Amino acid sequence: MVLILGGAGYVGSHTVRLMRELGREHIVYDNLSTGHQGAIEGSVLIKGDILDKEHLVKVMREYNVDSVIHFAAFSLVGESVTNPEKYYINNVYGTLCLLSAMKEAGVKNIIFSSTAAVYGDCPTMPITEEMPASPINPYGKTKLAVEFMIRDFCTAYGMKSVVLRYFNAAGAHVSGEIGEDHFPETHLIPNMLRATMGIGKGLTVFTSKDNEGDGTCVRDYIHVSDLASAHLLALDHLLCGGESKTYNLGSGNGYSVNEMLHAAERVTGKKVPYEYKGHREGDPYILVASPLKIEKELGWVRKYSSVEDIISTAWKWHNNRKNGYGDRE
Ligand code: UFG
Repeated sequence: MVLILGGAGYVGSHTVRLMRELGREHIVYDNLSTGHQGAIEGSVLIKGDILDKEHLVKVMREYNVDSVIHFAAFSLVGESVTNPEKYYINNVYGTLCLLSAMKEAGVKNIIFSSTAAVYGDCPTMPITEEMPASPINPYGKTKLAVEFMIRDFCTAYGMKSVVLRYFNAAGAHVSGEIGEDHFPETHLIPNMLRATMGIGKGLTVFTSKDNEGDGTCVRDYIHVSDLASAHLLALDHLLCGGESKTYNLGSGNGYSVNEMLHAAERVTGKKVPYEYKGHREGDPYILVASPLKIEKELGWVRKYSSVEDIISTAWKWHNNRKNGYGDRE
């Protein structure tokens, strides 16, 4: 049985959906502080907190859990700068509670959602897993701290892990039934599409710090369902007795915000109302992954290769559910 922590969140719920589509046994553990019950209809949800170690041990024993996929974390870079305590408690101490619970319940396998933010301002692109991790914000630091913790638990207690460093998760399930719904929403694609739909005041475009490139930052957008499939490959790798690994999850292609605006206009056939606003603190100019390692070692193949395809799925979701899951103010 696979326990999916934070399975009601954005990437978590797409992984849960794939598990359901493939008939793979799983249960979701989520406190719904940022996740949505509507995102995991058809799966068993246990409402609980990652800080509640005793509850985690009980659930792991009761359901005979052998593997954990761990998505439960706060993930807003800006908020992590103003409120690092929240991030260190939930992301770092929360994962310590989880690892202790796994140790106590004898659960050996963990797949962990890490982030491109662990790399900070990398001097060369594309980024490979061997490049030094040097996060520039507390969010990235909490994720890197957890990576260290997981490795130490693996070495000492015979656990196995796959650490997945996501670049920019984007898009929605092809059905349009589940998608991205954060509050507040800070991500480019939902903000861009909602601006197109006349929701809010239009898109604020943040510029690159020293006006590098075309004046906006470059990111590697990777479809959320492709992220989900990588989790299943990682799970099967561990279930087949594979060694602990760390992988980047990206496409290898970078797009500036200006290029994304044009792509959104091609997909929607509408103009995106926007204005430039200067640099957003903590945004590195460019983050592009080398996905070669996971492609080679686990045979990861992406279904969505163009940003237009990715934006189209998000467009379907936002049109389908103008208020997202409708469970937040
Ligand atoms: N952007 C805008 N306007 C917006 C939102 C974003 O111009 O309203 C720009 C940003 O400045 C950035 C790009 O669009 O250049 C992408 O921004 P996102 O907020 O969508 O994504 P980030 O790259 O900032 O963040 C993502 C993940 C984080 C992770 C980070 C790693 O969402 O969890 O990558 O750097 F930490």
